[in-house]
Amino acid sequence: MDSLTEDAAPDAALLDAADALALLRARFSLPPGLIYLDGNSLGPLPAALPAIMAGVVAQEWGEGLIRSWNDAGWIDLPMALGARLAPIIGAAPDHVVVCDSVSVNLFKLAGAALAMRPGRSVILMEADDFPTDAYVMQGLARLAGATLRRVPRGEIAGALGPDVALLLLTHAHYATGAVHDMAALSAAATAAGALSLWDLSHSAGALALALDEDGADFAVGCGYKYLNGGPGAPAFCYVAARHHAALAPPLQAWMGHTAPFDFAADFAPAVGVRRLLAGTPPILAMRALEAGIATFDGVDMAAAEAKSRALVRRFAAAAAALPGISVDALPNERHGCQCVLRHPEARRVMAALIARGVIGDVRPPDRMRFGFPALTTRFADVDAAVAALGAVLASGEWRDERFAPRGMVS
Ligand SMILES: Cc1ncc(COP(=O)(O)O)c(C=O)c1O
Repeated sequence: MDSLTEDAAPDAALLDAADALALLRARFSLPPGLIYLDGNSLGPLPAALPAIMAGVVAQEWGEGLIRSWNDAGWIDLPMALGARLAPIIGAAPDHVVVCDSVSVNLFKLAGAALAMRPGRSVILMEADDFPTDAYVMQGLARLAGATLRRVPRGEIAGALGPDVALLLLTHAHYATGAVHDMAALSAAATAAGALSLWDLSHSAGALALALDEDGADFAVGCGYKYLNGGPGAPAFCYVAARHHAALAPPLQAWMGHTAPFDFAADFAPAVGVRRLLAGTPPILAMRALEAGIATFDGVDMAAAEAKSRALVRRFAAAAAALPGISVDALPNERHGCQCVLRHPEARRVMAALIARGVIGDVRPPDRMRFGFPALTTRFADVDAAVAALGAVLASGEWRDERFAPRGMVS
């Protein structure tokens, strides 16, 4: 499945029958007849979640009330969920904490990193990375008197000069799916005297990761995409053990205090990554994320990545034959679990495709993005999605007024 020029792709039914991960789809509740290729934006509903949430609401909240902070372990959920998530991203259990959003966590960790590198004032980023990463760094740079330097992908290692305090990179690029070599770039940052911070939003739950082994200093990632934690699910922070003692996040708040219920006048950080907590954890959202993380129980992430890669490449090869479509080249080496097709009327074409029961998303100006999470996507879905797209293009139905762009979220 590695070549886009392969002539006869193996039969999808045979591939699905031979797929050791196929049974995992039963862990999700997906509307029948729908082909959902947008788990890279919002993961699907875990099948167990409605009953779990009903129990949490009725028992933990309804009956336990305030007692549940202790009796149901609410107060420890950010660390407990971090420990459950850790093996999925190749980290030790106490290196991960679940909290806040990626944006807020970027601020906390980048701010802490700047404080660890006095005398250096540059935050180095890839030029066209996900916008929130740049927005947060712009704000932080203003506060901290730092400078944001954005360079093209190929110039990152060369830009690691003696003034760089922090290298911030998205591991799998949100638009292109290109994946950085975490071990090599973390080592390059270390050699240059800088710290590395990885945004794993498109990697956690999608790719095999080895944060501890690869020498990453810090990482953040999303709970609502591949981790299936639900809309607006809490995000996570990772901190390598060697930084736990010195970590001083600029946002210090009572849940990160060593003894929040002592109500002390001054801040004293909790041990380790717990100090990254700010306000009271959103327990209902945390319980939902817990159910999302549980969908990975027993999953070998290397096998999941390999399956997604095969799905992506099958989709890219078939879509390349469609009229009016160009396929963004996939890197030969690793890439994320997504594929971008281009069409000048991407929003309309996607709206027409969704009306046919195939859901992806669009990114300006002309990109249609499709995600292929291994836990839910079948090879047959790939073929059916390409067939539906072919029908949309052949009929020209996307020109219909009902497919005119509307709504803020694309
Ligand atoms: C790479 C990347 N970073 C950050 C975010 C935003 O994360 P949050 O909404 O949790 O701040 C996204 C959202 O799509 C993303 O793709």
